[in-house]
Amino acid sequence: MKIMVFMLFALALMQAPRITYGEDFGYDGNTGPTFWSERYRECAGKHQSPININVLHVKQVTLPDITFIGFDDSIDNVHVTNNGHTVLIEVRNEPHPRVRGGPLEGDYVFSQMHFHWGDNDTFGSEDKINHRSFPMELHMVFFKEEYKSVSEAVKHQDGLTVLAFFYEVNVLLFENRLLFIYVPLGLP
Ligand SMILES: *[C@@H]1O[C@H](CO)[C@@H](O)[C@H](O)[C@H]1NC(C)=O
Repeated sequence: MKIMVFMLFALALMQAPRITYGEDFGYDGNTGPTFWSERYRECAGKHQSPININVLHVKQVTLPDITFIGFDDSIDNVHVTNNGHTVLIEVRNEPHPRVRGGPLEGDYVFSQMHFHWGDNDTFGSEDKINHRSFPMELHMVFFKEEYKSVSEAVKHQDGLTVLAFFYEVNVLLFENRLLFIYVPLGLP
C-alpha cells in the first residue's frame, strides 16, 4: 500500500512548543490557525501553515521515490514528551534514520515526530485536503544533514523537511472484540 505523503518545506511551528510550553498558539479562538501568521510570519504566504490542499489546484509532478534509510534498525534511546501540545517522540541513538530522494536535495536526518489530533474523530489533523480534516496527522521532522542540527537548519529555507501522514479510523474485529484503530490513509 502506498502511503499518502506530502511535504511541508515551511519553517514549521514545532519549534514553538519547546520554547513556550504550549501557550501561544492553538486551534481555535484568537490563537487559532488564522492568527498564526501574526506571531510567526513564516506561517503567511507561500510557506503558510496549516495547508489546505485543493486537489483541483495542485500541480501533478513525477518525482523519484523517497528512500527511507535506517528505519528498520532497532532503537534503544527514545524520548517521549508531553510538551503541552502533543506527544513528541525523539530518537537519540546513532546513526539517525534519514530520508533522501523525492524532491529533496541531499539527505535529511530524522529529528522528531509528533501527532496532531482532535477532541473527537471528526477533526484533528493540522492540514486538510479539500477542506476535509482527518482524525489524526503524524509529522515526521527531518533536518538537512549539512546543517548538523535543527537549531541551525531552521535558519535556512531548505533546512527542514516535514513528512505528514493523515490517519483514518478503522474498525477491526480481533478475537471477537471491536477495535478502533488509527491507520495511515492509503492510496488505492
Ligand atoms: C467534535 O468536536 C467539534 C469541536 O469541538 C464539535 O464541533 C463537533 O460537534 C464534535 N462532533 C462530535 C460528533 O462529537
